[in-house]
Amino acid sequence: MIKIAIFASGSGSNFQAIIDNIQSGSLEAEVALLVCDRPGAFVTERAKQHSIPALSIAPKNYPSKVEYEESILKELQEKEVEFIVLAGYMRLIGSTLLKVYEGKIVNIHPSLLPAFPGKDAIGQAIAANVKISGVTVHYVDAGMDTGPIIEQATVFLSENETTESLQKKIHEVEHQLYPTVLQHLFNKLEEKKDEQKASTY
Ligand code: GAR
Repeated sequence: MIKIAIFASGSGSNFQAIIDNIQSGSLEAEVALLVCDRPGAFVTERAKQHSIPALSIAPKNYPSKVEYEESILKELQEKEVEFIVLAGYMRLIGSTLLKVYEGKIVNIHPSLLPAFPGKDAIGQAIAANVKISGVTVHYVDAGMDTGPIIEQATVFLSENETTESLQKKIHEVEHQLYPTVLQHLFNKLEEKKDEQKASTY
């Protein structure tokens, strides 16, 4: 089974959705580590409740991004993590992690990218008065929400949509979409691993 790390900064409802799908058997993966860059964030409580090892790590305690990510990388390698899932991790991934996990890091973003990248995508959609927004799952590169798109789902805004009501709708979609897309990606990775194994015999 594929070993993954989930990176999160906040409440962790997507982290929870992934765990729930693993427990119900609809997602085949092992969450080997939670990486949280905001010690005290609620997502760390969720990890504790499910006995998932958590690395709470504050970037400000490191002299540079490279050193911060090197500490994370050490843990990832100790836990033999093969794939990184960003779930509300509000920080750009730097070259240290990208070099090792290129093509094996995905993110979920609460808009139809390339619309509304960066922070507060939901607030940006409300301010722009759009009628349709949604959710994007994409590979991560060095840019801000710029990597290749894997899957998208739409969400319709009502007349009196607020940031809170849109966030609720978006979360509902995310909690369905992310585990489904992840299972698809993990199937492909397992297939690739089997092919590689077969070619070495
Ligand atoms: C999610 O809506 C996710 O799409 C967003 O943060 C939220 C985290 O919620 N991510 C980004 O905006 C990344 N640019 P959660 O902590 O309840 O999973």
